[in-house]
Amino acid sequence: MKLDIRPVQESDFPAICEIEGRAFVDPWPKEAFTDFLCRNSWVLFMEQKLIGYIFYHTAADEAVIINFAIDPSYQGEDYGKYLLHKSMQFLINCGVQYFYLDVRKSNFKAIALYHLMGFQTLGYRKNYYHTPPEDAIVMGVQIPIKDEE
Ligand SMILES: CC(C)(COP(=O)(O)OP(=O)(O)OC[C@H]1O[C@@H](n2cnc3c(N)ncnc32)[C@H](O)[C@@H]1OP(=O)(O)O)[C@@H](O)C(=O)NCCC(=O)NCCS
Repeated sequence: MKLDIRPVQESDFPAICEIEGRAFVDPWPKEAFTDFLCRNSWVLFMEQKLIGYIFYHTAADEAVIINFAIDPSYQGEDYGKYLLHKSMQFLINCGVQYFYLDVRKSNFKAIALYHLMGFQTLGYRKNYYHTPPEDAIVMGVQIPIKDEE
């Protein structure tokens, strides 16, 4: 199975919105996907089919995951782990040291994946989500700086 990751382009937005609508109970509206998001964000292709995406906001040595999904038809096959790991590596290579995200308290699959990648719970945001209402867990991980050789 050939997997490819490349930076998001505006032409990817229709396929991304289609997955977004099926992956989330509260999907982003299509107007939310603007070219501004293309910086530091990646799409995952399997055999030329777009099956996942991850969007980050970055500032200095920090990155926040603002949206991340795998096409529901392809979930549970390690593609999420692959996309998260690879995209974090790209950012670490660019100097990012701190990663943060918000996740629904009930989203056990995503939380398990983030724990796997070293994220820890930093706190909670009461009623952060609206449809349906739910608290957010704030998670983060600090990447150790490698010693200069
Ligand atoms: C969260 C999401 C991106 C994970 O992608 P995925 O391809 O389904 O996950 P993977 O197959 O790579 O699984 C990675 C890890 O997640 C956890 N996981 C995945 N499916 C799971 C399940 N059904 N039950 C428990 N843990 C699960 C496991 O820890 C797994 O690691 P393992 O295979 O070594 O046990 C994907 O499920 C998704 O798009 N969900 C809907 C949108 C969403 O919730 N996005 C995150 C918002 S914060």
